[in-house]
Amino acid sequence: MPTKKKIPTAPVRIAHPATIRAFQRRLIAWYNQHGRDLPWRRTRDPYAILVSEVMLQQTQVSRAMLYYERFLERYPTVEELARADEGEVRETWEGLGYYRRVRNLQRASQEIVEKHESQFPTSHEELTALPGIGDYTAGAVRSFAFHHDAAILDTNAARVLTRLFALPPAQQTDRFLWSVAHAVTPAGQAPDFNQAIMDLGATICNARTPRCGECPVRTLCRSAPSRP
Ligand code: ADE
Repeated sequence: MPTKKKIPTAPVRIAHPATIRAFQRRLIAWYNQHGRDLPWRRTRDPYAILVSEVMLQQTQVSRAMLYYERFLERYPTVEELARADEGEVRETWEGLGYYRRVRNLQRASQEIVEKHESQFPTSHEELTALPGIGDYTAGAVRSFAFHHDAAILDTNAARVLTRLFALPPAQQTDRFLWSVAHAVTPAGQAPDFNQAIMDLGATICNARTPRCGECPVRTLCRSAPSRP
């Protein structure tokens, strides 16, 4: 996903409201039973969540887990990361690659300290104005840390939505997919819903061999094979 695109606001009616509600309900119920217990899901600290989401931008969950806690032990707060030595920060990141991510993370921390008096910004506009924070990462921080009704769209969520609604290629654009993500994110339940759709995409609705037989929303899915 490109990191700095404007989120469209036009509402889209992608399915009957009852279908969308059923999707939300079943997905969250499935997540409550089968969701992965990941370390960044046990905190509401926006800084820790930002660290995890930046790591996860180009790194698999299993690999990010090896680095997440160590990074936070070394730099437990936004202030500590802001004033740390750049070379040492890079060393702590070594093995994760894509070092521009950690440079941006440190620069974002410095801006939060200097321009926001160390108070984490909460709005989409303020978050996406920080280095390395695009629409996805802003939505993740707002929903997971602040429990705002913010949508997310990463590659897993995009695949789930594309299949669920059998979107034709012309609708598989970032812009349209974001409007679908907004339309399906349930008010008051964005944190669980967002974690759930990523987990469904990672573990069931995966790219190569989707396990439709185990999918909690297969009867709503316009791409699932019909039962024999
Ligand atoms: N990929 C990006 N963010 C994630 C999260 N919070 N949990 C699992 N995978 C992710």
